[in-house]
Amino acid sequence: MTLLLLFLLYAIALTVALAVAGYRSPETPVAPAGAARGRPARVLVVGASGGTGRQLVAQALERGLEVTALVRKPSRLTISHPRLTVIVGDVLDPPSVAEAVAGQDAVLSALGHKRFYPPSRILSDGTRNVLRAMEAHRVPRFVCETSLGIGDSAGRLGLYYTFFTIPLVLPFYYWDKTRQERAIASSSVEWTIVRPGLLTNGPKRGRYRHGRVGSFLWTVRVSRADVADFMLNQLDSDTYLRAAPGVCG
Ligand SMILES: NC(=O)c1ccc[n+]([C@@H]2O[C@H](COP(=O)([O-])OP(=O)(O)OC[C@H]3O[C@@H](n4cnc5c(N)ncnc54)[C@H](OP(=O)(O)O)[C@@H]3O)[C@@H](O)[C@H]2O)c1
Repeated sequence: MTLLLLFLLYAIALTVALAVAGYRSPETPVAPAGAARGRPARVLVVGASGGTGRQLVAQALERGLEVTALVRKPSRLTISHPRLTVIVGDVLDPPSVAEAVAGQDAVLSALGHKRFYPPSRILSDGTRNVLRAMEAHRVPRFVCETSLGIGDSAGRLGLYYTFFTIPLVLPFYYWDKTRQERAIASSSVEWTIVRPGLLTNGPKRGRYRHGRVGSFLWTVRVSRADVADFMLNQLDSDTYLRAAPGVCG
């Protein structure tokens, strides 16, 4: 009984810490820059061999964009196209990141990994390398997938994630996501943080909710295909410029 109580206290303390450490929207919303935004022609996809990343690559090509994929193992990408360039690299290796970022109009990131223990800084250090390269090469637009459950979305992945999965399985991973979000928010690029609910491999429906979404009770879900659709829609939209919308089905 005491152990259970201690665990509940730990889970609540962790949720509060993730709320404080992740990106929180300012009380007074930052007005969009208002600059006329053309649709980017050349985009880099980071995490292109992953579930969301492959959707980003495929859908960006469908939209007629020139796509560069940064991958560690090209065999995991399984997409080939005349408008697709594959660059082999690692987000933790700044030269390969700079090579991939140079000449792009925008960067989309679906970076993720499964090294939940011990604590790591792959998401935050990797994202910092991307941001530094973007600043150096004057690439203006960054759209990055993180997750519901951080900053002002803390607790919004439902009770199961708040009191079981995040405290037991993902505490260090989510903590690194808070550092990743803060690195993005303090950068000089035009960013949008996209926070999905639980990801599925369902089809693209093109119908999903976004903004202040999620539930404190239930785990909301969304397909990787719909997340990719939403992320690509941000490229020529100012609606969520310097904001962190959630997205769920
Ligand atoms: N799973 C969920 O339900 C859920 C819910 C909300 C948010 N999210 C977040 O959404 C994001 C995308 O999730 P996902 O499941 O679609 O992705 P994923 O399948 O786990 O793919 C992650 C991608 O990141 C790449 N990557 C990892 N370390 C790298 C490195 N050092 N350098 C370059 N690339 C690297 C992986 O490359 P390799 O193929 O080489 O490993 C892979 O392409 C993640 O941040 C995840 O935490 C997930």
